[in-house]
Amino acid sequence: MQTQVLPPSAEALALAADLLRRGQLVAFPTETVYGLGANALDADAVRAIFAAKGRPADNPLIVHIWSTAQIEAFAELPEGAEALIERFWPGPLTLLMRRKPAIPDVVTAGLDTVAVRMPSHPTARALLRACGLPVAAPSANRSGRPSPTTAAHVSEDLNGVVPLILDGGACEVGLESTVLDLCHGTPCILRPGGVTQEQLSSVLGPVDIAGSVLRPLQTGEVARSPGMRYRHYAPKGDLTLVTGPEEETLSALRLLYERDTAAGYRTGVFCFEEHAKTLADCHPFRMGRLSDPASVAERLFDLLRQADDAGIERIYSEVVPPTGIGLAVMNRLGRAAAFKSIPAREVLDQIKEE
Ligand code: TXA
Ligand code: MG
Repeated sequence: MQTQVLPPSAEALALAADLLRRGQLVAFPTETVYGLGANALDADAVRAIFAAKGRPADNPLIVHIWSTAQIEAFAELPEGAEALIERFWPGPLTLLMRRKPAIPDVVTAGLDTVAVRMPSHPTARALLRACGLPVAAPSANRSGRPSPTTAAHVSEDLNGVVPLILDGGACEVGLESTVLDLCHGTPCILRPGGVTQEQLSSVLGPVDIAGSVLRPLQTGEVARSPGMRYRHYAPKGDLTLVTGPEEETLSALRLLYERDTAAGYRTGVFCFEEHAKTLADCHPFRMGRLSDPASVAERLFDLLRQADDAGIERIYSEVVPPTGIGLAVMNRLGRAAAFKSIPAREVLDQIKEE
């Protein structure tokens, strides 16, 4: 299949809407990451998404809409949703809702809830409006790869597999939406994202965070969000997070870089803009500013792809505090590292001894 990559002109949007209405797939930009869309009410079209991504069938999809009037046909608003919709839609917040029969099982992986989101990106909104359909869309990457934040990332993964990629430039948020469960007791963040726990609490009061957000699932533990079961966002190289006070962390990153390079590994460090000069000779990848964790969110997935492209075998990374958007950053970075982290102090003691 020939893949067209087009800027979102009126003609390209009309073509994209037509493809969606005919049961085909279209990749499109949102404010979070690029999505791979299909008509959410067409089970065959949705199955094609799973095939294109190589996605396990038990991982449900998010349904995208441009108007709240669309919801009634396929889902029921849970309690508390209206205030959140008022405040955060359109935007990077996904809400679980009780599904109605119109939604095929393949969208929800057989769960009794369906995830719904209204993206704010003008191209996403224009496309959703033009096609007039609820659109099921996971991130437009091959399963297991970092989510795409540019059309070039989508091409890397899906060229020849989808007919059309709409190129709307780089995504503003850079990490996927917050997934919030309002259907099972206390509101619970299943996946942290662009709308923070602090923002949600300001509207809802207490909001829990699913246990698996900052640690691996334990044996026997049921994932409330099936996506959390899978190793995601993984770079090809071995990633380790280094924690501790700034000075110690920088020394540890240098020692680790020198040790692994001497042992013959292609090694790199993920460091903040503020530290790139200090670590200039340690193959630094600039992960955004420590003073602005949103800039880290924006760059993280591109960085993971860059490290792969450079053939990096060992990566050591700084971390951000897990508050605000930092919680989403640490969830993705943690999962990319299979939650492997080491205190800087330990590195300093260990390597000095050797
Ligand atoms: O920002 C985003 O949300 C992007 C853009 C394209 O909108 N989409 C996205 O989709 O990240 P995806 O498929 O990569 O991630 C959807 C997440 C998965 O972790 C999935 O398990 C969870 O949402 N999910 C979907 N439906 C669910 C449901 N009914 N119950 C629990 N978790 C659900
Ligand atoms: Mg995804």
